[in-house]
Amino acid sequence: MTSLPDFLRIDAVSRHVSLDGRNPAFYSDPNQVYSALHQHCPTFYWEEQRQWFFTGYEHVNALLRDRRFGRQILHVASREELGLPEPQAHLVNFDLAERHSLLEIEPPEHTRLRTLINRAFVSRHIERLRPEIADLAERLIDGFEKDGKTELLSSFADIIPVTMISRMIGIPDEMGPQLLKWSHAYVGMYMFKRSKEDEYAADRAAKEFADYVKTLISDRRRTPAEDLLSHMIHTERKSSDSGRGQHLTDDELVSTTIVLLNAGHEATVHQIGNSVRVILESGLTPAELFRDETATERTVEETLRICAPVHIFQRWALEDLEIDGVSLKRGDKVSLILAAANLDPRVFSDPLTFKPDRKEAQNLSFGAGIHFCIGAPLARLELNTVLPILFRRLPDLRLEAKPVVKDVYHFHGLERLDLVW
Ligand code: HEM
Repeated sequence: MTSLPDFLRIDAVSRHVSLDGRNPAFYSDPNQVYSALHQHCPTFYWEEQRQWFFTGYEHVNALLRDRRFGRQILHVASREELGLPEPQAHLVNFDLAERHSLLEIEPPEHTRLRTLINRAFVSRHIERLRPEIADLAERLIDGFEKDGKTELLSSFADIIPVTMISRMIGIPDEMGPQLLKWSHAYVGMYMFKRSKEDEYAADRAAKEFADYVKTLISDRRRTPAEDLLSHMIHTERKSSDSGRGQHLTDDELVSTTIVLLNAGHEATVHQIGNSVRVILESGLTPAELFRDETATERTVEETLRICAPVHIFQRWALEDLEIDGVSLKRGDKVSLILAAANLDPRVFSDPLTFKPDRKEAQNLSFGAGIHFCIGAPLARLELNTVLPILFRRLPDLRLEAKPVVKDVYHFHGLERLDLVW
């Protein structure tokens, strides 16, 4: 074993790694561990997780696009064949909400659902939201500017993404706080070593969330509006009338709405916090970093590269195959660490340094292939709009204390972000 920090053991010969994902020394600064992994064994078996993990840029990028892997496997094999446990009774509502989530399905179902909502998320549609996002950011800053300090996650970052995705779907702004509560409970299911209480809370949230979405669906059936939910329902009617069978069922409408709401804000909230922190810690001058649109885009992309909000995504092997000398059987799960791929020294020079003017590969923070983040244009627009406004309005912005990272390893975000000016 190579000698490393006491919470990390790497056996480069067998490519086995031992690491406690809940250890604050790790999740507070995972980039140091990723750096060691790149040096010793970029592809490794994580003993505690009992799974193979990939961190190399080429491997992660290729596996995200490789159709021999999927986010789902039950479309090619049964639970019995794979020896998978039966669904658990106390998660019935959670499982139902996930059943048609874009993130949990594969073609042809994935292609059909994604095509139906894709138009709403393409850049030229999203771009129209810029003034509304800017106005929201300005008004929130108006609310705390005179205080000389704020906790930025609750006063700013938490509010913008949920408001924008809700407005797109057609949910009233005042539902924001309730949506945040459901969403926080729901994503508790993705935590390492989650407790039974986390599972019950996630299932309860899924039920309440789904019931709420169902009332919205019947509202929009009676009175359609100019929003995504009405569009999805309308498409359902038109297609079933024409008999082409392309309609969305109620369960599909609920799943799609829930995944958009959850995915649509959680990562962006964290990324607003991560970006502000990276910029303040870099010692670079915000006025320079945001001097024009191109500089702003580069700054935002570099914060996404060096401090991504979601670190790990999993894939099932849909057939027996071999990757980087690792033999995988159909039904094995592998994990791709996107945030580590962004630090591959074979692709990025001086990878742990924040250098917005680098012109190297595209970061993988939004994934790649058929599941590439459908909300990437929206998330990028939000970041590119609100960050320059924040730093222009509060030019003396400083960290009040060293920010504490949340104990949810794969979602890399802050517990709080206390700022003064
Ligand atoms: C900084 C913010 C965000 C990051 C870093 C991010 C990251 C990602 C990544 C990596 C994936 C691919 C997962 C995989 O391949 O397994 C993904 C998928 C997805 N994202 Fe995002 N996301 C962000 C914001 C958003 C927003 C604002 C929305 C709102 C619409 C959204 C909706 C989705 C959906 C629906 C999927 C599933 C797409 C599919 O499976 O076809 N995301 N996201």
